[in-house]
Formats: sequence, structure tokens, C-alpha cells
Amino acid sequence: MADETKAVTTYELVTMKQRGERIVALTCYDALFARLLDAAGVDVLLVGDSVNQVLAGAETTLSATLEQMIYHTKIVRRGAVRAMVVCDMPFLTYQVSPREAIRNCGRVMQETACHAVKLEGGAPIAETVRALVDVGIPVMGHLGLTPQSVHALGGYRVQGRDEQTAERLKADAKGLEAAGACAIVLELIPAPLASQITKSLTIPTIGIGAGPACDGQVLVLPDMLGLNDRFSAKFVKRYAALAEDVREAVKLYAAEVREGRYPGPEHSFPK
Ligand code: KIV
Repeated sequence: MADETKAVTTYELVTMKQRGERIVALTCYDALFARLLDAAGVDVLLVGDSVNQVLAGAETTLSATLEQMIYHTKIVRRGAVRAMVVCDMPFLTYQVSPREAIRNCGRVMQETACHAVKLEGGAPIAETVRALVDVGIPVMGHLGLTPQSVHALGGYRVQGRDEQTAERLKADAKGLEAAGACAIVLELIPAPLASQITKSLTIPTIGIGAGPACDGQVLVLPDMLGLNDRFSAKFVKRYAALAEDVREAVKLYAAEVREGRYPGPEHSFPK
């Protein structure tokens, strides 16, 4: 297990891979949960653009904005003491040109005090990753099912099942590593392919729906807490059933208010 007294850095992530210690990551969108997850020993808090779906109720991540990601990353950073905070760069903030990517990612680093940014894609963004790393911005890559390309990929489907795509993903991973990425998220790819990619790299892989061989795992927090119970997927394990707990607690509160049982004398001030 990782040293719980040491802040998690990009250097520490690589060291964890070398020591064979699994990296624990979760998405996080606010200071309240950041405090809880940090205290529970989570290594990486990923401020995913999934916030646009799970908290803001949008259909996809495509409409997430830079302002939205800056706001959520800033408040997550307030709650994080030890964990590394990574901001997911929203669609079109890094794809247009390396220069624009430096401007937008630099703004995120300055305004949120996060530790790294995450970009989706392989070869087409390798030059941008290199440019960001050259100016001192740590970059986490993201390959496989890249949600910002959901329409181009034909839906949320497992990637890399055919040989050609698998070979491309392997080459993309090596390309991101060569460009200076500090880690790579592998989303929704077959477990044997994730294992091959993980073994081929010196930087860690963090899997979501990519099997057990990755150097770490990440899940969308409301999914694994059972808070977002309208979403289910084979790779999501629910560790709690919070949606049910919330419904029950609120029903009880409503009944007690309606029946005049809350507040009781113990909740009231006699004078
Ligand atoms: O936006 C997000 O939550 C992500 C994770 C699923 C890796 O990118």
C-alpha cells in the first residue's frame, strides 16, 4: 500500500508502479467528498468531465465547459491534502492546437492548483502532450473508450476488440509515454490488451472496465457508491447503496415534518 503520509505526485505514481503498489483513483467533484476520499487514502482524485453527466444531468461529456471544470477542480483541491488532483480537460480545449492547449491547461493549473490535467486521445494529440510537458504541465492520457468521441466511436462500446484497433491502442500508449505523459487511463478495453499495454510501459495505467492487470483502478464515484442508480455497467461494482439510503432518509424526514414529530424538544431552544 502507498505511503499514507506522503503527498501523491507524478513521481510517486511511477514509483508505485515500480514497487507493484496499486493506484487507487476515484472521480470527485466537490470539497466534501474530496475530504472523505482523501482521508480514506485514495491516491488520485480525478475531476472527470463526467461531472457534466452525473451532477449536471447532461447526456454526454461534450458540453462540459472550461469554467465548469475549473470550478469543480478548485473545490476538490480545497478538500485534498494527500491525494493528487487531476483535472479532465473538456472537449475542444486542447484539440485545436498545442498553443491553445497550453493556454487552457495553463489556466487550469494556475486557477485550480491541481497537479495534472487529463487529455483524451492517442497519436493525434501526442504533439500537444509533448508541448504541455515541455512547459511543465503534467499530463495524464486517456485511451480506449474516450467519451468525448462517443459519437465517432458509435456509442459507449468496448474498444480494441479487433486486431487493428488493438495495435493502434498499443502504439498510442507508447506514443503518449514517449511524449511525456505521467500515466494513462485505459477505459473499456479487453483485459488481455490492457495487460499487454501495462507491461509495455514504464508509466502506470489506470483502468476503468479494463480488467485487473492495470497498475491502478478508477471508478465514477456516484456509480460505485450506488448514488447514481440509473446507471449500471458490467465493470461497475457498487460498494454501497446510497441512492436507496437517501430516498429512505428523505421519506422519513418528510413524514416526521408532516406529522409534527420533527423537530422534537431535543432539537428546539427553550429560550
Ligand atoms: O470523466 C471521467 O469521469 C473519466 C473517467 C471515467 C476516467 O474520464
